Amino acid sequence: MTAIRPLVAGNWKMNGLTAQLAELQALQDRLAGHPVEADVLICPPATLLAQARWASRGSEIALGGQDCHPLQSGAHTGDISAEILKDAGATAVIVGHSERRTDHGETDAVVRAKAEAAHRAGLIAIICVGETEQERRDGKTLDIVKRQLRGSVPAESSATNTVIAYEPVWAIGSGLTPTPEDVAEVHGFIRAELVQLLGAREAGRLRILYGGSVKPANAKELLSVKDVNGALVGGASLKAGDFDEILSVYRGGKAA
Ligand code: 13P
Repeated sequence: MTAIRPLVAGNWKMNGLTAQLAELQALQDRLAGHPVEADVLICPPATLLAQARWASRGSEIALGGQDCHPLQSGAHTGDISAEILKDAGATAVIVGHSERRTDHGETDAVVRAKAEAAHRAGLIAIICVGETEQERRDGKTLDIVKRQLRGSVPAESSATNTVIAYEPVWAIGSGLTPTPEDVAEVHGFIRAELVQLLGAREAGRLRILYGGSVKPANAKELLSVKDVNGALVGGASLKAGDFDEILSVYRGGKAA
């Protein structure tokens, strides 16, 4: 299998006043001095995208949205389309984050429609999956992930337009993480499922990120796990120093 270029994505969630752009600038400065062997993506609130594009010009940092509407345009007050995100400077968009699935009742079918919209607009869809604490306790982790993958991943997905993020819901923002063995089991399972869904060629190249309490202290261990091709980072992406420390896993030699 050819080496997969990792992706480390920062999801700022509903955090980010204009002053937060200073962190983007600081990250850019660190990356300019010490490049990483990974793609770097920041997903700020949509309001900051255009300014972030300006602030990160000339750098390796790509920008993404945190959600998109399934349609391209129209009467959908308060929503944002993949096309609008692209126009504002995004190259990717997160869809199906557990906070969207929970807060907004998004089903697998809705998530798939959003991923299709992202593809139509020429954006990479970062499709999130992951079990709740109760589901893990009940031994249903792989069943849930399988259902989410089968329901949320568009049939025409490829390694270039799609990324899967495994984010156990109970690990998000909690400081808790699965063991490396548990991460390896789920990521290996996701890879095998993707072979079924998309064929061996795409599945073998598609990036599978781990997300949920990734911090400088645990990044090396988690990102060294087989079939982990990067991270989706929440809280620790808000500070350039922390995010940069996580990125350091991919400086001077690759982890996985
Ligand atoms: P934390 O890194 O804050 O746990 O958030 C993970 C996440 O939800 C990224 O999308």
